[in-house]
Amino acid sequence: MSDLAIATESPSRSPLAQEVARRRTFAIISHPDAGKTTLTEKLLLFGGAINLAGQVKAKGERRNTRSDWMKIERERGISVVTSVMTFEFEGLVFNLLDTPGHEDFSEDTYRTLTAVDSAVMVIDAAKGIEARTRKLFEVCRLRDIPIITFINKMDRESRDTFDLLDEIEKTLALDTTPMTWPVGRGRDFLGTYDVVSGGVRLLEGGGAKTGAAQQIDISELAGRNANLDVAAVKDELALVSEACKPFELAAFREGHLTPVYFGSALRNFGVGDLLEGLGRFAPPPRAQDSNLRKVEAAEPRMSAFVFKIQANMDPNHRDRIAFARLCSGKLARGMKAKLVRTGKNMSLSSPQFFFAQDRALADEAFAGDVVGIPNHGTLRIGDTLTEGEDLTFVGVPSFAPEIVRRVRLTDAMKAKKLKEALQQMSEEGVVQVFRPRDGAPALVGVVGPLQLDVLKARLDAEYSLPVEFEVSEFQLARWISSDDRKKLDAFIAANGSGVADDVDGDPVFLAKNEFYLGYTKERAEGINFSSIKDVK
Ligand code: G4P
Repeated sequence: MSDLAIATESPSRSPLAQEVARRRTFAIISHPDAGKTTLTEKLLLFGGAINLAGQVKAKGERRNTRSDWMKIERERGISVVTSVMTFEFEGLVFNLLDTPGHEDFSEDTYRTLTAVDSAVMVIDAAKGIEARTRKLFEVCRLRDIPIITFINKMDRESRDTFDLLDEIEKTLALDTTPMTWPVGRGRDFLGTYDVVSGGVRLLEGGGAKTGAAQQIDISELAGRNANLDVAAVKDELALVSEACKPFELAAFREGHLTPVYFGSALRNFGVGDLLEGLGRFAPPPRAQDSNLRKVEAAEPRMSAFVFKIQANMDPNHRDRIAFARLCSGKLARGMKAKLVRTGKNMSLSSPQFFFAQDRALADEAFAGDVVGIPNHGTLRIGDTLTEGEDLTFVGVPSFAPEIVRRVRLTDAMKAKKLKEALQQMSEEGVVQVFRPRDGAPALVGVVGPLQLDVLKARLDAEYSLPVEFEVSEFQLARWISSDDRKKLDAFIAANGSGVADDVDGDPVFLAKNEFYLGYTKERAEGINFSSIKDVK
């Protein structure tokens, strides 16, 4: 058995607790182009999940133009690789949850981050912290998700290493501990120094598998590359050991400190160190907050929440897959689970696991795992499944849309069909739908314009509903609530045409602009206006 597995085994634990302790459920956060896809491929290679790197997604997917993206979304619609990839390495089970690369789908990303226990932050060594990395980092911080940093593209010209660490510390207010240190830069990048063991792992001759990597003493580097100033390297390493904070597991787990690894995903260098770090330091499944109590991962009874819905994963079967994160216990195929929102039981007859290219029936799954549950619209984002207890997990958020549009149907006879289709699209998290209480046609809200393109394409392809979007008189939506039911009812009555119901029937105030929103807020005593809603 490997060291990593030993670190998590304890003979006194129940078999369930041991299974839970083997799980590492994580996501990769990065700015587009930093190397998330390349790193994902290499991580999967370690786990033997794919035979050949380069298969994780189509190359063109990187290009962010609209037309390209739509085509890709259609391709993605039938692809199984996008949501979760499970692989084993050294006795541990890694669940890598994928997040969409495009910022228009950030809502999807935020929801996915509610289902992980840790994240890998990939930074381009030439660019440092970029806008999207920072934003995603902030989402992780809200949930105290521990972060491991991978500074990528060390085989290219890069910024000064101390500068990069300094930038992480200052812009993210996060302490850093380099676990490895680059020796040489760009074309002269030779490998990394292992800060803990004190050896150098060379780029030439691999770095592919951690164990197989070549470790040599720093003094032996002279002569390997004419451009390498060994004395300067030694000075730098002396400074690292003097000036950098030592690694502290508790500070990392609380989200205050990040261990930093250097490498090149493209050359498959440093990826093994990163994976080993994930196995060793990243937390096993955490306890999850519910409306009633904290649910511990090793509790015997199964519980789970749905954080993502994907439709049409298989073009031959118009199915809908709900991705559920198991929060506690063990799921056994065929078991019955209670869908708390409706109070009804459903049979989990064919839960699925996902690998890079494949999916397979999951006979059993444990807390921390993500399973796909095929269904025909029974499950929604934010739903909780339990073995009977009436608790609901909190923290799967909805965000106030940035763009609000009215949907115009070219064939008015199909209004009923449109209503059903929009309901389904909103349950899947494609868009948010707001139904004005005065009976006016539905409004859709999105965070990014590409979501509208996807909605239009899907309504057309799946429901034969050609639609157009019109600018509406409303631009902003805020969820409204009050401790005093009467006040809320009075507000709704007074603002009839500006109040709509969301997918759950919760009231939403629609405003023409910021000024009007501010004006209304000032006068609406006792009413809360929120731009985030926790799915209940
Ligand atoms: P993303 O998912 O974060 O958007 O990034 P992706 O992995 O697609 O990588 C973006 C580009 O950076 C790709 O090049 C990829 O090959 C390159 N890259 C990733 N990791 C490294 C690395 O460690 N070193 C170097 N030198 N390059 C790296 P591209 O030109 O856009 O695509 P391709 O045609 O080369 O595949």
